[in-house]
Amino acid sequence: MSSPALTNLMHETRRFDPPAELAEHANVTADAYGSATQDRLAYWEEQAGRLTWAEPFTRVLDWDDPPFAKWYVGGKLNAAYNCLDRHVEAGLGDRIAYHWVGEPENDTRDITYAELTDEVCRAANALLELGVRTGDRVAIYMPMIPETVVAMLACARIGAPHTVVFGGFSSTALQDRILDCDARIVITADGGYRRGIPSALKPAVDEALKSCPDVRNVVVVRRTGQQIEWNEGRDLWWHEVVGKQSSEHECEAFDAEHPLYVMYTSGTTGKPKGILHTTGGYLVGCSWTQWAVFDLKPDIDVYWTAADIGWVTGHSYIVYGPLSNATTSVMYEGTPDAPHKGRWWEIVEKYEVSILYCAPTAIRTFMKWGAEIPQKFDLSSLRLIGSVGEPINPEAYMWYRETIGGDRCPVVDTWWQTETGMIMITPLPGVTSGKPGSAMTPLPGVCAAVVDDSGKPVQKGSGGYLVLTEPWPAMLRTIWGDDQRYVDTYWSRFPGVYFAGDGAKLDEDGDIWLLGRVDDVMNVSGHRLSTTEIESALVSHPKVAEAAVVGANDPDTGQAVNAFVILRESAADEGAGAEIVTELRDHVAKEIGPIAKPKSIMVVLELPKTRSGKIMRRLLRDVAEKREVGDVTTLADSSVMDLISANLAGGKQED
Ligand code: WTA
Repeated sequence: MSSPALTNLMHETRRFDPPAELAEHANVTADAYGSATQDRLAYWEEQAGRLTWAEPFTRVLDWDDPPFAKWYVGGKLNAAYNCLDRHVEAGLGDRIAYHWVGEPENDTRDITYAELTDEVCRAANALLELGVRTGDRVAIYMPMIPETVVAMLACARIGAPHTVVFGGFSSTALQDRILDCDARIVITADGGYRRGIPSALKPAVDEALKSCPDVRNVVVVRRTGQQIEWNEGRDLWWHEVVGKQSSEHECEAFDAEHPLYVMYTSGTTGKPKGILHTTGGYLVGCSWTQWAVFDLKPDIDVYWTAADIGWVTGHSYIVYGPLSNATTSVMYEGTPDAPHKGRWWEIVEKYEVSILYCAPTAIRTFMKWGAEIPQKFDLSSLRLIGSVGEPINPEAYMWYRETIGGDRCPVVDTWWQTETGMIMITPLPGVTSGKPGSAMTPLPGVCAAVVDDSGKPVQKGSGGYLVLTEPWPAMLRTIWGDDQRYVDTYWSRFPGVYFAGDGAKLDEDGDIWLLGRVDDVMNVSGHRLSTTEIESALVSHPKVAEAAVVGANDPDTGQAVNAFVILRESAADEGAGAEIVTELRDHVAKEIGPIAKPKSIMVVLELPKTRSGKIMRRLLRDVAEKREVGDVTTLADSSVMDLISANLAGGKQED
């Protein structure tokens, strides 16, 4: 694993020490690292004190049957109570939980903790009336509106694990997820707003449910008022079923290991994995990290995670982390360019946002749009800014730090995954320095290493694979319905430790630099996509005989989806023009979602394969990244690459 470009950058790396004032009042001090190393479990026991437990736990960690962990054994708690009621009981009912900002201008709503608690109780009562019981799964397919949070917490309150499906996913993707976790209720909306236009959601649910006979009810929030089809008896309006309920609901405490939610994510095989998170450890992890990493002062900060709730970042850092800490958050429905490219900065100025957390892909987009746009707004309220989802290139880091952070706000580059549930590797803003491009060190209580092929830790200055060497509270517990896949995917590559699937490098100081995925997972604009899943989607098209997909470096989206397809003979006869490329891109959007649309599709006659028939993606990546094609000696037919290169030179690649 070598990355010459990165090595060069590391030599000229700048270092930013914590600002003195922040360091002086930081929530977490340097000795946290020492005490966590001395007694890791005692450290996590102490952090659990952030939550209110109905029954105390008797053991911090049960790791008797690895890799199946139990955290806070015997403890009982309710996640929604911890996010809501206890703050109201503590006199914080009037504190704003969310400044919600709809995409259409002036469509805003401030929701206090007391109001949110009432609404969640009503929704919990509605779900109970619809027959949802503890342990039943509920699917949520929503835009970024307050009801999405209400629906999630209502599920948590009654112990019904939710599975939130990103609103940009297609009906097929939604259907797969509903079937995989056997959800019986779907909560959705008529639609949402995107770039000023109402986009539809309900039709995708109708389509998905054609093959989900066990779904009893669809609860529909009216967001846009657009015309939708109505399935009498199955479909119910949210404002009718929830609106009529009492706001009294006595919540029950569940076991610390009670399932809280299932979040699907792409893996190396075609079928998405249902990552299972449970209640106690997950909530301790989100709560502590949101407070520690963002140095959160809940009574003064205004915190904004600019992500979609349909991804884990939204779950941990829009919903569970911030609410458990009684944070005032901003939640924004739309895109950064609606109705103008300064929308985010207008929001920061209006609500005096002090902490902003977003993805490098957004930062790169803003860079492209130009510094003069954010410079028109007053961003002086910001005191800390964070990045998540993909490696942040040093140029983007510096631009973020200088243009958005006014060269005064520390940047926290946070590495974590759907599976880890919580931030794992990051600077601590009051303690650790930051370096553009490095996520720095594991948090106190988190144990990570960079290892070589044989699992041995690498020397400083070398690269390898990132592993997590000890269990952590918010870790996934399994893959829904597939314990074996959980063991095989994460705990078998290097026995006894968790294999993250990321390449990493240690610099001379021992700080960690993430280098991107080492498996068949791509990271496009911070979204995880599987090459195999997109290949299956392409092959499901009647005109396609075979397909290979690779993620190639892209200046805007980090990586971009590049596909190579062989057409069936009948289709090839019709010619391989631009129409087929458009048709295939649309087909992928329909099968998975618009985010998975290949940026380029190249029609080829052969794919490069080894003698055992394995597609050599490395070579295709060379082609996609317009590099000299690497070693072809293991190809069954080495002339294939000449053909592909000639094809490329002939200009058949479509962007
Ligand atoms: C990548 C998102 C470099 C990584 C929270 C990981 C990062 C995958 C960073 C997880 C970062 C996330 N630096 N790479 N700061 N954060 N990644 O599950 O490849 O959507 O494995 O979780 O994103 O993506 P996921």
